[in-house]
Amino acid sequence: MIVLGLETSCDDTGVAIYDTKHGLLGHKLYSQIVHADYGGIVPELASRDHIRKLLPLIRSVLAESGITGADIDGIAYTTGPGLAGALLVGAAVGRALAWTWGVPSIGVHHMEGHLLSPMLEDEAPEFPFLALLVSGGHTMIADVQGLGQYSILGESVDDAVGEAFDKTAKLLGLGYPGGPAISQHAEAGRADVYRFPRPMTDRPGLDFSFSGLKTAVATELEGLALTDQVIADIARAFQEAAVDTLVIKCRRALEQTGRTQLVVAGGVSANRHLRDAMQAMAGKLGAQVYYPRPQFSTDNGAMIALAGALRMQAGQKDEGLAFYAHPRWAIDELTPVAS
Ligand code: KG4
Ligand code: ZN
Repeated sequence: MIVLGLETSCDDTGVAIYDTKHGLLGHKLYSQIVHADYGGIVPELASRDHIRKLLPLIRSVLAESGITGADIDGIAYTTGPGLAGALLVGAAVGRALAWTWGVPSIGVHHMEGHLLSPMLEDEAPEFPFLALLVSGGHTMIADVQGLGQYSILGESVDDAVGEAFDKTAKLLGLGYPGGPAISQHAEAGRADVYRFPRPMTDRPGLDFSFSGLKTAVATELEGLALTDQVIADIARAFQEAAVDTLVIKCRRALEQTGRTQLVVAGGVSANRHLRDAMQAMAGKLGAQVYYPRPQFSTDNGAMIALAGALRMQAGQKDEGLAFYAHPRWAIDELTPVAS
């Protein structure tokens, strides 16, 4: 089955073609730059840019993959969670193309896409496994029993960890998105110059809280001149605190559940230090960690094509002609798919 995947939930237009027999045939991503002057994403500008870029990107991925619309067996697009207008662009284009080509379509949960993204790689996890999902809007540990069968074991009670990276980067005068900037500056940072808290690790449970960490950075910065060295030292200390917190909670979750596979996905999973630290922790427990390639840690069309393909293979598809966006949508509300 050859599936076209469309991702337009936020500020990246992602298009990919996934073949259930031969894997990924082609993929392209356009990361919007229209938001640069605003210090954050402007939803209306995001929607308009998706409208401008989506069809040309689809044409280009089809050409690159050497196939035509007639070869496509189904279309998957992100229905939520995300920005309503941005989601509606992908939903409208996905459903209209599916109707034109006479193939089924399916709306995909963005975080399910992230969760399944390591299955795009040669070294793929098998159900059941634990998943740490870390993005700009979510931080959660889920127990994954099968496709669509997700129990949330812990999640952030306030900011997502990606949001903490972005807000800390802003405090340090670095650009958006903050994650890549922080990790790059952290490389020149010295160890143990600053130390920030590992929130909620001193009590039982698997929930997270990251807003205090950002506040701790703000307090530390009061009266400090932002030299390159200070930026690097703070970036390093912040990254270590954030990563340590995630690793401590994942170790706890692995121990509590007895699972031996851990998926780490979502934008923050691109972080090199996080990957190394998680690997070291899991190694000691005899567990295996699975990641998407760094390019597919952040938003992309490939994970949506894959998630849609797995659901359509199991017989699911959109019914009727109305289409929807679900800006807020909890991952544990998804329909389980019989295996
Ligand atoms: O999954 P994603 O691309 O979009 C959402 O679904 O939110 O995640 C974006 C988040 C941003 O907060 C960004 O700063 C963070 O992922 N991020 C990183 C890195 N690359 C992206 N955080 C830490 N280290 C990175 N290398
Ligand atoms: Zn995402």
